[in-house]
Amino acid sequence: MKILTDGKKKLNTNGKSDINTGGRSNGLIKNSDKAKPKWEYSKSIEDKKHIKLKDKYDLFIGGKWVKSKKYFNTINPATEEVLAQVAYASDSDVDKAVRSAEKAYDKVWSKMAPKERGKYIFRIARIIQEKAREFAVIETMDGGKSIKESKTVDVPLALAHFFYYAGWADKLKYAFPGRKVSSIGVAGQIIPWNFPLLMAAWKIAPALACGNTVVIKSAETTPLTLYKLAEVIEEAGLPEGVVNIISGDGKTGAAIVGHPKTKKIAFTGSTEVGKIIMRQTAGTGKKLTLELGGKAANIIFEDAPIDAAIEGIINGIYFNQGHVCCAGSRLLVQESVKEIVIKKLKHRLTSLRVGDPLDKNTDVGAINSLMQLEKIKELVQAGINEGAEIYQSKCDLPERGYFFRPTFFSEVAQSHRIANEEIFGPVLSILTFRTPSEAVEKANNTFYGLSAGVWTDKGSKIFKTLSKLRAGVVWSNTYNKFNPASPFGGYKESGFGREGGRQGLDAYVV
Ligand code: NAI
Ligand code: MG
Repeated sequence: MKILTDGKKKLNTNGKSDINTGGRSNGLIKNSDKAKPKWEYSKSIEDKKHIKLKDKYDLFIGGKWVKSKKYFNTINPATEEVLAQVAYASDSDVDKAVRSAEKAYDKVWSKMAPKERGKYIFRIARIIQEKAREFAVIETMDGGKSIKESKTVDVPLALAHFFYYAGWADKLKYAFPGRKVSSIGVAGQIIPWNFPLLMAAWKIAPALACGNTVVIKSAETTPLTLYKLAEVIEEAGLPEGVVNIISGDGKTGAAIVGHPKTKKIAFTGSTEVGKIIMRQTAGTGKKLTLELGGKAANIIFEDAPIDAAIEGIINGIYFNQGHVCCAGSRLLVQESVKEIVIKKLKHRLTSLRVGDPLDKNTDVGAINSLMQLEKIKELVQAGINEGAEIYQSKCDLPERGYFFRPTFFSEVAQSHRIANEEIFGPVLSILTFRTPSEAVEKANNTFYGLSAGVWTDKGSKIFKTLSKLRAGVVWSNTYNKFNPASPFGGYKESGFGREGGRQGLDAYVV
């Protein structure tokens, strides 16, 4: 299978590229893969009647819903329909939120017995658990991810983080043996759009457990589950101002970072903004953790269980439409098994279902925003122009909404943009290696260092390889597995500091 022509074929503007593999007569691709499933699943659409969404969300500050001057729409990227309006927090709104967090810190939260704080956090976890289905449906509608994933990953993991850190609240002396730690004050937290509720849990739960109060801002395209979380916080009866939830854009985020009373900043997002925040906080004495992008190597040795590895590759790059900072976006395959891996990958793509995120059978949902879709298309076009060989799933895409076919590139050179830049979409770049040391060298040849995967039958090879990988998280014979007890974070341009686990407490104490 080869892209012929001059290699400069353009993608359609709607992202439903004609660079598919349908064996169509456009002269582009001859698809040898005949293994199309003979039957298809019937639709099984998740009911959304039970969810409660307001038309308009105000800011959640000091335990009250506070109006702002400006509102903006959040849409469903799978249908392009407006779901609700949300408040845009200005600098003065941020100031209000930080002051209420400071007041709550000084008067109540920092003084409360740790065991009592723990009870509130447990309560948050249990209420999310009760509302798990509603959270999952809203997460899927606001962000485009498949309902299967929001039900089995986002929501359960989010509440597991609250349970986990609730348990630490009165045991901090065991987390820091020989050290007497104390809370910091107001934590300013800024999160991205790929795992909204989960990222909020990663940040809020340890902050509260350590005795800090919080001002958190959702990302532009996915504010809704955070406002549902605000309702949970109300219901849990948290003292007012302990958790303040706001929405806005980069300017709102910058106001949180720049506010003199935020003593700790936690950011997850792009490396570009991470660098801005680092400059902004330099010399201020604020504690900072940054969880930024990645370009993870997923290394398949020739002795790997290939069928399991194929599932790992699929889960590594197509999970959450590839909007995953730790996505296994650079596949490093040992040359001797390259052909078989590519053949099996093509076959597996025939049964990867792309479409309505609310359909329980959907594997790959909608791209989060038009902006992200454009970015993916631009990088895919760069891959074509630079001479890599493209393969795309030939699935049908919905007429409306932002979708992109699961794609992979073979014949990728280390110098290609698609081998270096984070695409943050369902696009895999395949490179090859001959020896274990070449695999390690190529895996580490990146500005990033967030995660990696190693697939081999030999335990000793796993340990030898992973001890040499400069990545914060390394999975062996699996991929994209998360647990509240495991720390997560990166090296180099993937950021610093750890979230999750006992190590995740460190960012919230002095
Ligand atoms: P972004 O880094 O601009 O946005 C992330 C969050 O930061 C949002 O809440 C945004 O409002 C806020 N923000 C933006 N500018 C800020 C500033 N100057 N100060 C404080 N907060 C600010 O990421 P964006 O534009 O949504 O995505 C661009 C690319 O970044 C993606 O294509 C992807 O490659 C990468 N990304 C990585 C993520 C990760 O999990 N590591 C998450 C989101 C994006
Ligand atoms: Mg949205």
